[in-house]
Amino acid sequence: MSHFYYHGGELHAEGCALPALADHYGTPCYVYSRAELRQNYLSYANALGEHPGKICYAVKANSNIAVLQVLAELGAGFDIVSKGELQRVLAAGGSAQQVIFSGVGKTRDEMVFALQQGIGCFNVESTAELELLSQVASECNLSANISLRVNPDVDAQTHPYISTGLKENKFGIDIAIAPEVYQQAAALPNINILGVDCHIGSQLTQLEPFMDALDRLLMLIDNLQQKGIVIQHLDLGGGLGVCYQNETPPSTADYLAQVKQKLGNRSLAIYLEPGRSISATAGVLLTEVLYLKPTVHRNFAIIDAAMNDNIRPALYQAWQNVLPLQENSPAASAVWDLVGPVCETGDFLAKQRELSLENGDRLALMSSGAYGFVMSSNYNTRGRAAEIMVDGDQHFLIRERESFETIVAGEHLLPGGKA
Ligand code: LLP
Repeated sequence: MSHFYYHGGELHAEGCALPALADHYGTPCYVYSRAELRQNYLSYANALGEHPGKICYAVKANSNIAVLQVLAELGAGFDIVSKGELQRVLAAGGSAQQVIFSGVGKTRDEMVFALQQGIGCFNVESTAELELLSQVASECNLSANISLRVNPDVDAQTHPYISTGLKENKFGIDIAIAPEVYQQAAALPNINILGVDCHIGSQLTQLEPFMDALDRLLMLIDNLQQKGIVIQHLDLGGGLGVCYQNETPPSTADYLAQVKQKLGNRSLAIYLEPGRSISATAGVLLTEVLYLKPTVHRNFAIIDAAMNDNIRPALYQAWQNVLPLQENSPAASAVWDLVGPVCETGDFLAKQRELSLENGDRLALMSSGAYGFVMSSNYNTRGRAAEIMVDGDQHFLIRERESFETIVAGEHLLPGGKA
């Protein structure tokens, strides 16, 4: 069930009316629902059930420390791709033991920090990285737990920019050479082999690609076993896709039931790294109509949110639903393109939407909780939006709107200037 719904003609997040939140915090702003985050996380945790394993929320999808705090309190693990993301998890009260470290370009400094914090596992993406990790761990006198991220060469059938499990992608180690690399890992000092990992892409709306990848991983695991390399966990990477428009993603229950069935009697813990399916539907982006600009060719509604606030439509032609904060507008309905103030033709959040609009109307861009704020920028010197967390009828500012002073805080004039 969604925690965003109309009541008395007003769109709500849990017990909070969104028009009142827009008045209070101003627009553009992101509003998250704690109950929706919880529901989405628990859907995975319950589907995993008693089976050993961990649901490691992919921090990249939405890394606000209050969001991480909600998930840490529920017992979530975390999947990170940088030292900064690990620092966020720690700041949110999470523990490093519950964290797995993914990413193709980990630096020495990031390895040292993660090892010193006692990170749960590194998902290693190349032999060069493996060798450096062994060296760094030896220098620190610590042991690095690892999985190799293998590239199973399956087509995730998703947008090419978010498809990662094909031979031509930069990610992972070719599954054909993975047995050799595991043997190399087994011989390296201060490396402790724990798992096998893959991530084939994001916004997958079918189970088949996941199952194809799983079949290949299991063959690899059985092969390794014969070579005396025992794998304790299997990490299937990112989670399921979500419904933005009319997609019908599989349920977590079906997904995990099929995974468990394929494992058979192997004693393997299941790790997943879902991001989008935990945070996307838990967030909306609120915006106000600044100007209506009907033209002969097209009707433009210029809104105060832009591609710097949410780049998904510009970058992936992503479609996200738009809902008015107040139902039953007296304006006549028309077809509008919702465009932002940024000086780029690609600056739109939605196109060709039938809406009844007047100046000053407020709208919600739905399912904006994943890859929304985190991908925002200061382009055109626009301060990044405020973030608010709703919990029942309470609301909390979890990130202030960025001021000009914050934006330029790290900049310096050249010496001798007049200012
Ligand atoms: N694990 C790894 C190694 C990943 O690279 C990703 C996402 C995830 C987990 C989480 O996948 P999810 O459960 O969210 O599908 N910005 C794009 C999505 C990029 C995904 C990158 N990797 C978008 O807005 O659609």
